[in-house]
Amino acid sequence: MTQRTALVTGGAGGIGTEITRGLIKAGYKVAATCTVIECQRIDDWRAARKAEDMDIPLFEVDVTDFYSCKKMIDDVESQVGPIDVLINNAGITRDSTLKKMTPEQWDAVINTNLDGAFNMTRQVWPGMLDRKFGRIINISSINGRKGQFGQANYSASKAGLHGFTMALAQEGARKGVTVNTISPGYTATKMMLDIPKEILDAIIAQIPAGRLAEPIEIARVALFLAADDAGFITGANIDVNGGQFIH
Ligand code: CAA
Repeated sequence: MTQRTALVTGGAGGIGTEITRGLIKAGYKVAATCTVIECQRIDDWRAARKAEDMDIPLFEVDVTDFYSCKKMIDDVESQVGPIDVLINNAGITRDSTLKKMTPEQWDAVINTNLDGAFNMTRQVWPGMLDRKFGRIINISSINGRKGQFGQANYSASKAGLHGFTMALAQEGARKGVTVNTISPGYTATKMMLDIPKEILDAIIAQIPAGRLAEPIEIARVALFLAADDAGFITGANIDVNGGQFIH
């Protein structure tokens, strides 16, 4: 079977790490991205992957910048190979009620979570169409599905991401390129540390499963969608949220 090459943005984060590890275990060649600052601070991550005998090259990128993405993709494709699977996982929060939200908080979230997916996907899309194989997997959120108090920016970006998925799925369908969204619920990652404890406890109380998701429970859906024999699933939005939002 052809060995596929996958690129995971935000690949050293909570969910991103499990996706990169899962893809490596499944036999993919994998590269991951991090921001310049993250890349300087993740010696522990590099050591942990080395200890697991996992070779995951990290590439610096600013996903908000189209030309930074272009340069990084050129580097990945020349050093690792043409990208068959792109996982748009990089995302940030800047939570605030709208009455206090600054234009900077709005822009940072939209630019990273939504523009970032365009800036990355646009680079790999023509190659995928030409090679008649591709998988784009956009990591959205339960809060793009249901909205969340204090997250007008984040909810808008994540809902927009699935609009992007649905449109692009139609453009890729005849060329063997699928585009899908995963909408994780609240997952046990560092992002949760920004939520005040009493608010987080109230959120967990609303999750029928009674707990946060483990990152690996999100990663297994990404692996499923990345597979060669997942080619008839496109334009889908798969909820992984412990029953917190059932649609
Ligand atoms: N619904 C209705 N009203 C609410 C409310 C809610 N859920 N939460 C707070 N309020 C009310 C308060 O009672 C208070 O009312 P009064 O003004 O009448 O007293 C008012 O809203 C407080 O408003 P503030 O603007 O002062 O809010 P704040 O600054 O205290 O906190 C916040 C706002 C920072 C957004 C805080 O609510 C918060 O952290 N919320 C959590 C947001 C969240 O879930 N983030 C998810 C991050 S993880 C993630 O995003 C990953 C993923 O994909 C799931």
